[in-house]
Amino acid sequence: MQTIRLSNNEYDFEAYSKSRRQLIEAKLSEYLAASHPDNLWQSMRYSVLSGGKKLRALLCLASAECIIGLDKDIEAFLLLSCAIEMVHAMSLIHDDLPALDNDDYRRGKPTNHKVYGEATALLAGDALLMLAIETIIEKTPSRIERQILLNIIGRFSQAIGATGMIGGQILDLSFTGKLEDIRNNKDKTTDSEAKTIEAIHKGKTGALIKFSVWSGALLAGANEQQLQLLEQFADKLGFAFQIADDLLDSTGNLATLGKTPGKDEAANKVTWVTVFGEKTAREKLQKLEKEGLAILNNDQLANNQIAPLSELLKYAIYRTN
Ligand code: IPE
Ligand code: IPE
Ligand code: MG
Ligand code: MG
Ligand code: MG
Repeated sequence: MQTIRLSNNEYDFEAYSKSRRQLIEAKLSEYLAASHPDNLWQSMRYSVLSGGKKLRALLCLASAECIIGLDKDIEAFLLLSCAIEMVHAMSLIHDDLPALDNDDYRRGKPTNHKVYGEATALLAGDALLMLAIETIIEKTPSRIERQILLNIIGRFSQAIGATGMIGGQILDLSFTGKLEDIRNNKDKTTDSEAKTIEAIHKGKTGALIKFSVWSGALLAGANEQQLQLLEQFADKLGFAFQIADDLLDSTGNLATLGKTPGKDEAANKVTWVTVFGEKTAREKLQKLEKEGLAILNNDQLANNQIAPLSELLKYAIYRTN
């Protein structure tokens, strides 16, 4: 097991995230090694193993390491973080389908349905979702209490389902095309527009990110106060992550972003940037960064290894893809 022994003062985020990403990718390759039916597994591997930041997996590991320290065995957290990436890949495959965002590029390559066809893409997403659950149940070491395992699977299902990511995606779609209504509706206050966007972002993006942070910490033995603080931190990071995504959609280019820019405005999507503009989005990001860092510096966490989490917050906000 590759470990990195670093204090908060002499912390090398590049080395840390590189080593963790390598561990995550190696484990994912292992879990996705099956080959029958061949086209299904190829399609699943295409969306899990071909790039991506692996941010949710990194967050799960960093949250666990915040509790146990940076030099411990992370095998049990690794399998959890891989399950989360499988679900994330599923969400991207489905999000790109013609029935949803109808996107042609993802991570600099043609989207899954462009390569394997819509039917296989749909089914590969379904299969990844179930593989994620199977992985957690089958691979979690028996020393982990069954009640903790059940708690994790229950919260995972919630984070993915109608009250989490899928609910958020439906909300996103139900507001797609309504941008002009929101911009022109004089009865609506800025506050209620912000609440609408927050509800969309909290569901489609925030729920899985929050689960990533919460589950890593729970499995690592965090106490109730620490769990609550880490969840609050994840709320800030999840919201900021999606606003940064909205900003990149309006400012990025295909070469660096790996996906077609300008899609939100073209599709009349309701995002922080399309409703409030880029300047307000950047201000909101700064505010969320400050709030997130303040939570990590609470007495209950400040003596733990918070550096990876605080660096991941900055990365989520200032990334270029
Ligand atoms: C894209 O997620 C979808 C959103 C929730 C904005 P990421 O930007 O994390 O996608 P990859 O995995 O790094 O490609
Ligand atoms: C996607 O949000 C959220 C999920 C996949 C759950 P977006 O539609 O903004 O993500 P991109 O821009 O296509 O990556
Ligand atoms: Mg979408
Ligand atoms: Mg999309
Ligand atoms: Mg987007």
